[in-house]
Amino acid sequence: MNSHSHRKDEHVFIAEKLYQPECANGLEQIKLFPNNLPEIAWDEVDMTTTLAGIPIPAPFFINAMSGGSPATAKLNEKLAVAAAATGIPMATGSESIALKLPEVEKSFSIVREKIPNGIVLGNLGADHDLQDAKKAVSLLKANVLEIHLNAAQEIVMPEGERDLKWRENITKIIEELEVPVLVKEVGFGISPRSLQQLANIGIKYVDLSGRGGTNFAKIENQRRHAKEFPLLDSFGLSTAETLIASKPFQKEFSFTASGGIRDALDIIKCLVLGADNVGISGLFLHTVLKQNSAGLIELIEKLKDQVKALMVLLGCHNIAELRHVDFSLSSELYAFQKQLKK
Ligand code: FNR
Repeated sequence: MNSHSHRKDEHVFIAEKLYQPECANGLEQIKLFPNNLPEIAWDEVDMTTTLAGIPIPAPFFINAMSGGSPATAKLNEKLAVAAAATGIPMATGSESIALKLPEVEKSFSIVREKIPNGIVLGNLGADHDLQDAKKAVSLLKANVLEIHLNAAQEIVMPEGERDLKWRENITKIIEELEVPVLVKEVGFGISPRSLQQLANIGIKYVDLSGRGGTNFAKIENQRRHAKEFPLLDSFGLSTAETLIASKPFQKEFSFTASGGIRDALDIIKCLVLGADNVGISGLFLHTVLKQNSAGLIELIEKLKDQVKALMVLLGCHNIAELRHVDFSLSSELYAFQKQLKK
């Protein structure tokens, strides 16, 4: 197997090894106030929302992870079977490898085969140009292209990119690509300053992808056995911090939240804090590896049910009403919020 495919397998294997059922993405520091007179019936709840401007039936999806090797092809297939059965969207991992090695294209296109009518998101790094972006969309007949900004991951990887000039590529891609572009992090969080820069070049859809779940610094440090001098293990903004910091930009962007989402309450908190939808990787990876597509389908259906139950409990008819739920922040998050530049 070539070294690129091997890296894809290592990412999955180490992500799963480091997976923690409990995680610190900051959402545990947010308290939602109960609504003791909800005045709502179960059937009145509408949990539809949008992802990169496209209507979706429930406010969460399978985020980018897999493809590029025989093992990750199998994984993509299992994830796609669950996405198709439950109607939630699914993103593939970076298609960069398929642009270099046509023999691994199938590990990505299997996703579209299994999801003939649903929403599929392609994925590429921001070092790729418009031509690559078009190929990535065409390989999957993707409805959306995710472009990942993974500067911290590149820096930790010994074989990572050292030239991180990406803005021109992104600008060209969003001007010319025929599908919506969703710019995302990979678990270190996107800062307000970077959001301003993304707004300036016309980006509308951003996955804030904060710290607290899958940690690519830890994954890359494990890959090179850098246990004594780990780099960037605790770098970045948590999922809760990214949401708090993105508040002034909520009119300019439609936000996806991600990073360490573990249950329906995490999903609801992200929506209360202003996200339009939530991406889940580590939890779904763990579930599909342990329990196959059937176990993942069961989890997704349970999450849908629980999201609805929490909306009933909070007296919210739709996602927009969740924005009015009262909440409080821990003193740590409150201090973080106070330090944000006006
Ligand atoms: C990822 N992630 C990712 N993101 C991306 O944009 N392109 C990619 O190729 C990958 N690859 C990848 C592999 C594996 C095994 C995992 C677990 C994750 C990052 C992912 O989409 C997400 O941003 C982070 O993992 C944070 O979410 P979770 O995992 O904490 O829910």
